[in-house]
Amino acid sequence: MREFGLFLGQMIRKPAQVSALAPSSRHLARALAEPIGPQTGLVAEFGPGTGTITRAILDRGLPPENLTLFELNPVFARRLHSRFPGVRVENRPAQDIGTAGLSGLDAVISGLPLLSMNEQLQHAILSAAFQALKPGGIFVQFTYGPRPPLAHGLQHELGLEVRRGPQVLLNMPPARVYHYHRISAQAPRAA
Ligand SMILES: C[S@@+](CC[C@H](N)C(=O)[O-])C[C@H]1O[C@@H](n2cnc3c(N)ncnc32)[C@H](O)[C@@H]1O
Repeated sequence: MREFGLFLGQMIRKPAQVSALAPSSRHLARALAEPIGPQTGLVAEFGPGTGTITRAILDRGLPPENLTLFELNPVFARRLHSRFPGVRVENRPAQDIGTAGLSGLDAVISGLPLLSMNEQLQHAILSAAFQALKPGGIFVQFTYGPRPPLAHGLQHELGLEVRRGPQVLLNMPPARVYHYHRISAQAPRAA
């Protein structure tokens, strides 16, 4: 309930950034965290908000020191810092992942409102993520709409292939998970 109140307060103050009426359900959070396990190496989470997906990632057995959170909102970032000791919290945009010195990641789990962002910002975020991921690394994103969360042109430009993950009905609104991989080991072009 405390997390819900915090989320709603920030939604009212910064609707364009938060871009959702409620945090993800624990069912959606579990579906997003499914590729993670105790043996997974470095992981980044984009736009963790109040930390529902963060909780699910840690519940998969990932050591906290392997996880870095990128959260733009300072109120959320402070809350994440106190809620998840041992997890690195970066109060800066996800597209800055390269300048945060992260590389060789196994996975990026995104709770960003990608579809409400313009294509230039989507490109910056995705290309930065795939620069930081190691070959074979996975980018996990959900969307509420019927179509994949990345425009086909952008997916093609970045050399990505997509796999549909589970649909999660127990979320407000229902959501679908998508997994993106780089087709070849070649790094995508920078934005
Ligand atoms: C739709 S909310 C999702 C929150 C949480 N992941 C969940 O599923 O409940 C989007 C979150 O992304 C954050 N955000 C928006 N743009 C961002 C960016 N460029 N970099 C990092 N965080 C961002 C917002 O502050 C907000 O916490």
